[in-house]
Amino acid sequence: MRVGHWFDGDGAILRVRFANGMAEANYRYVQSAGFRVEAKQDRLLYGNYGMTAPGPIWNQWRRPLKNAANTSVITLEDRLLALWEGGGPHALDLDTLATLEKTNLDGPAGRLEAKEPFSAHPKRDPLTGDIYNFGVSIPGRNARLLLYRCDHAGRLLARRHFDLEGIPLIHDWVMAGAYLVFLVPPVRIGVLSVLLGLKSYSEAMTWRPELGTQILVFDRTRLDLVARGDTEPFFQWHFGNGACNDQGDARLVLDLARYPDFSTNQHLREVASGRTSTPARATLWRMLLEPGSARVHEQVEVSPRSVEFPTLPSAEVGQGWQRTYLSAHRIGTDTTAERYDTLACFDHAQDRFTEADLGDGRYPSEPIVVADADDPRQQWLLSVVYNGNEDTGELWIYNAAGLADGPVCVLALPHVVPLSFHGCWRPAH
Ligand SMILES: [Fe+2]
Repeated sequence: MRVGHWFDGDGAILRVRFANGMAEANYRYVQSAGFRVEAKQDRLLYGNYGMTAPGPIWNQWRRPLKNAANTSVITLEDRLLALWEGGGPHALDLDTLATLEKTNLDGPAGRLEAKEPFSAHPKRDPLTGDIYNFGVSIPGRNARLLLYRCDHAGRLLARRHFDLEGIPLIHDWVMAGAYLVFLVPPVRIGVLSVLLGLKSYSEAMTWRPELGTQILVFDRTRLDLVARGDTEPFFQWHFGNGACNDQGDARLVLDLARYPDFSTNQHLREVASGRTSTPARATLWRMLLEPGSARVHEQVEVSPRSVEFPTLPSAEVGQGWQRTYLSAHRIGTDTTAERYDTLACFDHAQDRFTEADLGDGRYPSEPIVVADADDPRQQWLLSVVYNGNEDTGELWIYNAAGLADGPVCVLALPHVVPLSFHGCWRPAH
């Protein structure tokens, strides 16, 4: 049985540990409740982001949604959290990747309740170690944006909520200096057809360009709304970073991989079929906005290249940065039919796009930037690569400052690791 959308696959986690001059790896599915039931019966039973539950109509009501735990991970001191934006996190053992429990982040400010999601894009403040995140719950006709602040151990320290208009799709957000910024794209979910079991969430989404993109700016300390504004319609899954501009004008600067519309969702649905025919191409954009009014001062496309998964060193999250690392299409690649086939760096100060050459048939996942343990000025870029020539999985490591020089190391993995979404680096303690 095929799933309905790339986002419907069950979460599996690859762990690669570097120690004593060696690398070791393990790779395991997250044992979510839904995964365990399906594994036992050896068939798909649940609905998900892009598929309704297989089988008779009453299955839609009995098994509307499986927490796939498949989008990203964040490490805490003693646990790994597997994240999925429609539900709560699963806690895993850092070494064995054994699934321990569904966790509710219990802390001084309470806990996650059953229908309160914790998205797959938390941000860790590099100065305090606090973890900020959001979730979108659907209590009725309008969605609710839940804002969370947790300490380094994942205990909930503060939470607020903000009522949204309709039910939008929000995947990522920006920490920028003293602010949390959301760009709410003009996508709305007709939740009634989902509740009736007629459509999956993805199928119930409509592109509503007349609504424009809504800008919400929150104060990071109080988690309350500072300003809301609007700008032209576009769509983004991912932001690179945000910061308070150091030019003295107190404006916020943020980067995103911007699509002109929502056709990316159809494109990603087609990924699950093995053949993509809908064009969907994102480019790196920079936005300058006034936090007090949410007014946009400037929006520019900083590079015309097809990119996704913008990222940067964890020490620069929410602060000024110079280089954004990306997955990208090579020049000449058919961006409609092909996955991302190279890694790249955009240097904002030098206005320069540099890229690696992985050769034909090699497909990298999101790059992960790692600061060298001995020399923090030295950074490495890690990416799990599917080698389509050999049908193998590999981990490629680059000197982040020299992508064009080729990898400094390629590690063979014992099995193919499917094209994936997000990852993180946990330094040795
Ligand atoms: Fe994502």
